[in-house]
Amino acid sequence: MVTKFLAALSVVVASFAPSGLAQSTGNAERGAKLAYTCLGCHAIPNYKNAYPSYRVPKLRGQHAEYLVLSLQAYRNGERSHATMYANAAGWSDEQFADMAAFLSGPLVKAPVTAKPIGKLPEAAQTCVACHGTDGIGITPQYPTLAGQHADYLERALTDYKKGGRKNAIMGGFAGQLSARDIKVISAYYAAQRPSLDTVNRPTRR
Ligand code: HEC
Ligand code: HEC
Repeated sequence: MVTKFLAALSVVVASFAPSGLAQSTGNAERGAKLAYTCLGCHAIPNYKNAYPSYRVPKLRGQHAEYLVLSLQAYRNGERSHATMYANAAGWSDEQFADMAAFLSGPLVKAPVTAKPIGKLPEAAQTCVACHGTDGIGITPQYPTLAGQHADYLERALTDYKKGGRKNAIMGGFAGQLSARDIKVISAYYAAQRPSLDTVNRPTRR
C-alpha cells in the first residue's frame, strides 16, 4: 500500500521535474574542488574575456539549475564560446550540478517591498514575464539578470540574435531587439538590486 503510494508520488514528482536534468541539487563541497580552475576567471571582479572584450559573467546568486543548463549548452555547442567549451567539455551532468551548487551560493531574492531601479525600457515589456522587472528569474531555469555586467548581457543578447547562442526561447525574443534596445535593456537590468555577484574565493585554512 505504502509502496504503491510512494510509486505514484514519484511519478507525480518526476512529471514536474525539468527534462534532461539529472539532479538539480548538487553537492557544493564536491563542487568547490571541481571548480577550482574556474575561479581564475569567475572569482576575479570585472575580469575580462580577451576577444571580444566584455566582462566574465557573475555567477554568485544565480539559479544553480540555470547554471547547469548553461554549462550543458557550452558542452553541446548550443552556445559557441571556445574557452567555455573547453571548460565544459568532458564533465558529467552530476559534476555540473556540484560545481553549480558551489558557484551559485545563496540565491539573489527580492525583498517584498523592492521597487525596480529606473524605468523599465519599452522594449523590455515582454522580458518581465520570465526575468521579472527586478531582474530575478521567476523559475530556476530562467536566469537572474539583476546586477549582471551590462557588457556581458549585451554580448549574450547579441549572440541570441545573431545565432552564436542557439536557444529556441531567447532567439525569438532577442531577434526583435535593435542594437539600441539591447544597450538600454542591459543597462536597466545591470542596475537592479539586490544583485548577482562575483564568486567568492574560498578562504584558505
Ligand atoms: C578563461 C576564463 C574562464 C574560465 C577559466 C572559466 N570560465 Fe566560465 N565563462 C567565461 C566567459 C568569458 C563566459 C561567457 C561566455 C559567453 O559569452 O557565453 C563564461 C560563462 C560561464 C557560464 C554561463 C553563465 C551565464 O550567466 O550564462 C557558466 C555557468 C560558467 N562560465 C561556469 C564555468 C565553470 C564551471 C568553469 C570551470 C570548469 C568556468 N566557467 C571556467 C570565462 C571563463
Ligand atoms: C519565456 C521566458 C523568457 C522570456 C519572455 C525572455 N527570456 Fe531571456 N532567457 C530565458 C531563458 C530560458 C534563458 C536561458 C537560455 C539559455 O539556456 O541560453 C534566457 C536567457 C537570457 C539572457 C542570458 C543570461 C545569461 O546569464 O547569459 C539574457 C541577457 C536574457 N535572457 C534577456 C532577455 C530579454 C532582454 C528579454 C526580452 C526581450 C527576455 N530575455 C525574454 C527565458 C526568457
